[in-house]
Amino acid sequence: MPRAFPFETPIAADALIDRREELHRLHLAATDGAHVRLAGPRRYGKTSLLLAHERSLQQTGWRTVHVDFYGVTSLVEVCARIATAYGRLRDTKVRSHLTALGSRLGLTLGTAGIGMTVGPRQAQLSQESALTAAAELLDLPLRLFERDRVSTLVVFDEFQDLLSAGSTLDGLLRSHVQYHGDAATYIYAGSQPSMMRRLFTDRERPLYGQAEPLELFPLPLDEVLVELSDRFAALGRDPGEALEPLVVATAGHPQRTMLLAHLLHRELELRESGGTALGRSESSHLDSQDAGDGAPAADDRPDGLALADALVDLALTQTSEAHHANWDQLSSGKKAVLAALADGIRPTGSRATERSGLTRGALQSALRDVAREGQHVSRIVTGPAPAGHWRFVDPLFASWVSRRGQRG
Ligand SMILES: Nc1ncnc2c1ncn2[C@@H]1O[C@H](COP(=O)(O)OP(=O)(O)OP(=O)(O)O)[C@@H](O)[C@H]1O
Ligand SMILES: [Mg+2]
Repeated sequence: MPRAFPFETPIAADALIDRREELHRLHLAATDGAHVRLAGPRRYGKTSLLLAHERSLQQTGWRTVHVDFYGVTSLVEVCARIATAYGRLRDTKVRSHLTALGSRLGLTLGTAGIGMTVGPRQAQLSQESALTAAAELLDLPLRLFERDRVSTLVVFDEFQDLLSAGSTLDGLLRSHVQYHGDAATYIYAGSQPSMMRRLFTDRERPLYGQAEPLELFPLPLDEVLVELSDRFAALGRDPGEALEPLVVATAGHPQRTMLLAHLLHRELELRESGGTALGRSESSHLDSQDAGDGAPAADDRPDGLALADALVDLALTQTSEAHHANWDQLSSGKKAVLAALADGIRPTGSRATERSGLTRGALQSALRDVAREGQHVSRIVTGPAPAGHWRFVDPLFASWVSRRGQRG
């Protein structure tokens, strides 16, 4: 059964909370023939937004292709990803085009019709053949447009990973894309805001100035609260006073919002059958239907704010490995800055220098770096907080950082 509050994979268009303005901007850009670069931190709903946009364009006669560059390491893999995306069109002419291209270059079209597979033989394709394949694949929208005059929206998701396959591939891309005119419009989406900025705003890079920026921000809390209340009501569950503090705690982070809504929903379901996922050992798993011996009596079960706190603790337990991994990768300066921010201390003030034993200059430089990277903190630009304040991108990471000394 699909989850009532999906939090693991991109979600369907009708499950999106808000993002109307972003969808509108994407629509205008497509009809203007303008390319867009979409940047947002991990798990902010980039792919979900793009899939919704693609679906709405398909309904108005566009062809859409979604290429995922996540983790690509070679040009052959890049070719395979593009071919896979076109293979999904289930268009017999596109498929025969891909097959012909494949047989010329020694690539195999998967029997499921999904795309090209890269076997050991293909991995040894000469660089020259790979470049020819890439050129032809990149020009597919042009060939298709010549045939049927239908424009293609090409989405390059996890675009920053393209450069791991070759540091000059953005140049190769541009040398094709710039001649596509009415045949194609492009969206470049990436989860490293600083890298995305560099690719498109550095004069030295081939894609400089080639796409309009669109940045994803947290979801508006009032909309989240209304929408989640409606969804709980439709499911026949009453979250009571616990929902509002959970929405506040997740601070509009899309995936964290849905994760906590899921945990709350599961808890309400479990309670209905006399169980609970709370008050047991840390190793217990929420999806277990069995209340177990350690479950507190029904009267002792937390509600309202206490329930919200307990669910945040549970979410922290479930996600702590990822927080550990994030933390371990940080330099001591970045750790000091993030620890100060998580504890509500000025990250470059005297308390922060005392606590960390680092100089003010070192903390300032670390703060500049974490801000530029945009992975863990971002500057608050709107809302009631004074400009210049910082927010953690992931509110669970903020709690983890703040409590890390209290764990074993
Ligand atoms: N507008 C939204 N409304 C409700 N939930 C959302 C929304 N956007 C994203 N989510 C939640 O965030 C999760 C991740 O979404 P998605 O995979 O689209 O993000 P992403 O930015 O592409 O992530 P990644 O960086 O991993 O590629 C979804 O499973 C869903 O729970
Ligand atoms: Mg994604």
